[in-house]
Amino acid sequence: MPKVWIEKLLDEPELYLLRIDDDQVKYFEATWDIPEGITYNAYLMKSDNVVVLFDAWKKDYADKFLEALSSIVDPKDITHIIVHHTEPDHSGALPKVLEANGYKAKIIGTAFAKRLLESLHGIKENVRAVKDGEELKIGNRTLKFIALPWLHWPDTMITYLVEDKIIFSCDAWGGYSIPERVDDSDEGVVERYLPHVTKYIVTVIGHYRKYLLENAEKIKNLGIVDDVKMILPGHGLIWHKNPQKILQHYANVGLGASKKGKILVIYDSMYGFVERSVEIAVDELKKLGFEPVVYRFTDKEALAVSDILGDVPDSEALIIGASTYEANVHPRIRHTLYELLDKANYEKPVLVLGTFGWAGVAGREIEALLKKSKFDHVGTIEVKGRTTDEDEAKIREEVRELAKRLGR
Ligand code: FEO
Repeated sequence: MPKVWIEKLLDEPELYLLRIDDDQVKYFEATWDIPEGITYNAYLMKSDNVVVLFDAWKKDYADKFLEALSSIVDPKDITHIIVHHTEPDHSGALPKVLEANGYKAKIIGTAFAKRLLESLHGIKENVRAVKDGEELKIGNRTLKFIALPWLHWPDTMITYLVEDKIIFSCDAWGGYSIPERVDDSDEGVVERYLPHVTKYIVTVIGHYRKYLLENAEKIKNLGIVDDVKMILPGHGLIWHKNPQKILQHYANVGLGASKKGKILVIYDSMYGFVERSVEIAVDELKKLGFEPVVYRFTDKEALAVSDILGDVPDSEALIIGASTYEANVHPRIRHTLYELLDKANYEKPVLVLGTFGWAGVAGREIEALLKKSKFDHVGTIEVKGRTTDEDEAKIREEVRELAKRLGR
């Protein structure tokens, strides 16, 4: 049962978090396995006769959202609605809010958001498009709107509350899971949360990694992050105690900053043949002092691609093992590779281990795909049938070559 949180964050301006813990969702965007769930965070500010709503929740929870809102304010009294991003996990409840509001509130978003509000929800009255960098005095506060295109859609902007140094950031600096706190006051909660942030960044924003880096630079140059007091995202924890921590985490994921020794190993094995090659590689990695993190697809296991993707950014290198299957790469690895190259295309070394029965294709195909990507292809070893002593020697040698690329 989704839990609703209504938390007062500040007295002046009177600022509230409205958060719902979506423990019903299984596949975010109907794709990404998130057994850890996700939260939708909206915010409400009351100050000097204005009532400003920042975003909303998913349509499924529109009634609960109205109920939560109504416990703080009469929806008719909402004067402004800031739409940072129109993806329906944040905008789905807006039609019901507007109905309860009597369509009086001024709606503010980018020009792109204005178009999407009409096409997604039929909302076209009272919508004002603001420009990148535009400031608006609302009550006794100044709201500065900053476009962050492709974080996560082209419509996206954030709001900087100038007098209070608060950033309302929607998707940016958010993450998956349902943290047991609303903010970053507990170090343990933060440490458990951050891996879910990495998984969220790669799966949701990874395709736009270039813009993640560009927008981080843009925000830095605007000079609003050095002394920011609070970051209020649309998903996950609020950053109050240490906003720099989430900014740094996003920067690390964007750059692919690696954890020393971590090697990501992904393979399929239908009958144990690929597995034997991988076991040899893993053994050699361990002898060299590495810590392999292994994901396998077998007749008993199929781990989530979303989790695999979340382990790419801080890995030093990857090893991919694949069977040849109908003159192609095994379907599980084919799908994983498609997502890997699209969402987590990092400049990291990769070693390929292929196994085949009568014609070797998987290794060659993967090698060709890697050569068109940002990954650094170290080598490919194709094994026919069972792994022989000669194959074993080659695998160990290639793992040592991989280690050399990493300066070991
Ligand atoms: Fe949380 Fe792109 O929506």
